[in-house]
Amino acid sequence: MTKIAVVVGSTREGRMTDKLAKWVAGEVGKESEVEVLDLRDYPMPFFDEPASPRYNPNRTPVPEVKKWLDKVGEFDGYVLVTPEYNRSTSAVLKNALDVLDYQMEQKPVALVAHGSTGGAQAVATLRVALPGVGAISIPQALFFSDGVGDAIDEAGVLKAELEAKPYGPAANLKAAVGALKWYADALKTARK
Ligand SMILES: Cc1cc2nc3c(=O)[nH]c(=O)nc-3n(C[C@H](O)[C@H](O)[C@H](O)COP(=O)(O)O)c2cc1C
Repeated sequence: MTKIAVVVGSTREGRMTDKLAKWVAGEVGKESEVEVLDLRDYPMPFFDEPASPRYNPNRTPVPEVKKWLDKVGEFDGYVLVTPEYNRSTSAVLKNALDVLDYQMEQKPVALVAHGSTGGAQAVATLRVALPGVGAISIPQALFFSDGVGDAIDEAGVLKAELEAKPYGPAANLKAAVGALKWYADALKTARK
């Protein structure tokens, strides 16, 4: 079965991104094996190694980083669920990418963002960063602009009116998740 990780890109107290990720994981889990990776469970130092991870064959990451690397390497594809902070992705999510070496190499990533402008600039910054770790950002993305706090409940269920809205967030998520699975399966076969 296709293995997809849904990464929660905010660790702050009172965050909303975890609710958005729960809803996303529900959709991913319909056709793939899904695991939510909460960056709160992977507290890491800001990247401070003496060399770029991809150019350091003798790399000895600290245990906190090693735990994250081993986990990320398990998956065929990823959904990065990101808030927008100051027209960018969050520092904690960018750092979680900066520590990678080849764990996401030739693997697809779907982007789900939120914020007052739907997280458009967070998506843009991630699309610029992802080639640096060898990942492929798929064309489909979700810009969630309906206010996560009101739109999604604690169980990760989207409000009925948004669920039914043509071209609304549910339809966009379905399209992005379906495309991610397609790329994940195709690239998995190609990597063999
Ligand atoms: C420091 C900070 C900067 C923000 N900058 C932006 C921004 O540039 N654009 C935007 O659309 N929303 C911005 N927001 C709103 C956040 O995207 C929104 O609060 C969202 O809920 C953050 O995700 P989180 O609750 O999971 O941390 C900002 C929020 C914070 C705390």
